[in-house]
Amino acid sequence: MVSAKSKNKSHYACTECGATAQKWQGQCPGCGQWNTLVESLMESATPTGRSFSALGGASKLQALVDIRPRDVPRQPTGVEEFDRVLGGGLVAGGVVLIGGDPGIGKSTLLLQALGRLAQSGESVLYVSGEESGEQVALRAQRLQLDVGGMQLLAEINLERILDTLSQTRPSVAVIDSIQTLWSDALQSAPGSVAQVRECAAQLTRFAKQSGTCIFLVGHVTKEGALAGPRVLEHIVDTVLYFEGDTHSSFRLVRAVKNRFGAVNEIGVFAMTDKGLRGVANPSALFLSQHAQDVSGSCVMVTQEGTRPLLVEIQALVDSSQAPNPRRLTVGLEQNRLAMLLAVLHRHAGVVCSDQDVFVNAVGGVKIAEPAADLAVLLAIVSSLRNKPLPGKLVVFGEIGLAGEIRPAPRGQERLKEAAKLGFTLAIVPKANAPKLPIKGIEVVALDRIEQAMEQLRSW
Ligand code: TYD
Ligand code: MG
Repeated sequence: MVSAKSKNKSHYACTECGATAQKWQGQCPGCGQWNTLVESLMESATPTGRSFSALGGASKLQALVDIRPRDVPRQPTGVEEFDRVLGGGLVAGGVVLIGGDPGIGKSTLLLQALGRLAQSGESVLYVSGEESGEQVALRAQRLQLDVGGMQLLAEINLERILDTLSQTRPSVAVIDSIQTLWSDALQSAPGSVAQVRECAAQLTRFAKQSGTCIFLVGHVTKEGALAGPRVLEHIVDTVLYFEGDTHSSFRLVRAVKNRFGAVNEIGVFAMTDKGLRGVANPSALFLSQHAQDVSGSCVMVTQEGTRPLLVEIQALVDSSQAPNPRRLTVGLEQNRLAMLLAVLHRHAGVVCSDQDVFVNAVGGVKIAEPAADLAVLLAIVSSLRNKPLPGKLVVFGEIGLAGEIRPAPRGQERLKEAAKLGFTLAIVPKANAPKLPIKGIEVVALDRIEQAMEQLRSW
């Protein structure tokens, strides 16, 4: 395998125009862009001038109706919250990428899952490129795992790892991490885009051929894209990202792509001294406790996969000293904040152009859905006027550029969860108004932001 690989020649290809060069250069000889040449493997030459009349070599077609889809069997890992994000469990031949900041708990979670799988009699292999065998053993001891059936390989050379994998054929393998691997076939350093991509592609090919389920650990680099897990998202079947504040003990694992299950499903864990422990009932985790009502705070219900979560949105609006006032978000989208401030100005006459605006989703949770808009707006106005919102209020709803409040999916479930946690008042989009009253919660349904501002004034 090694000898076959090393015959492959590498070259440098431009990521913008596709031009190739034998040596690395700062500027692409084709399009003149800078820093776009990355090392890649030369495709084996295809015969030119081929005649298409000889159809003998054509692939056979199949009618889609004749193909009977099989139910893919799932192998639960035994770590419940992890199985939930995976869509029920592992699929044979599936490749799962787990991304996240260094130190957030990727190795811990996978070691725990492998431990459980080994206990249930699966053959599992942990390939560690970052830590020595002793370090992994120490962690397993700390996690009090029964590691009887677990094999460890401390190796970073792709060809050797593939040889070991094809000899031992484990049912589940973990590669920790993809950025430490290097292939003989490429000259670039481990962790470069070319190496990461090539190693992941080869491992994926192995998974599909052998039926081994492979986990790839990937660190998210500070810049996000470069050589990080993002370049692999299209290769693998499932992409999971760790979220959460490394300073708090809660960790969220979110599925952003899943060929075998729902996306945006989340698993919630708490980091304890014995590893990650699933939190079965996480809806109240992301609320902070205030002794009395404070201004600039608004609780929203967000729907993550199949679960509603209550998250506190905090805003601080403060007069700005700078010519360009700051707009800063943590856990929410920055551009959306600028848009919301424009809508607030145009349709409700609330001016923030001389104010710095900071918005934060409590607990390090990331909210991507636009249903957070209404909570962000109310928190901003509450901070600007220095007037607290009612303590037991919860809101959700998207805001459009015309100032309308748009419905959010699964409004009923959100309201029920809020009522369960003791919230007594809700502001929701008109289209989400429940047909029958929900016990314990009064629902105010609005369709314009002007109405929301009026409601604020009445408190
Ligand atoms: P780790 O899984 O090594 O992170 P990653 O692989 O994503 O880089 O987790 C590291 C952190 O978790 C580390 O700061 C220590 C903490 N930790 C615990 O709090 N309890 C534990 O039982 C373990 C194993 C780790
Ligand atoms: Mg690690």
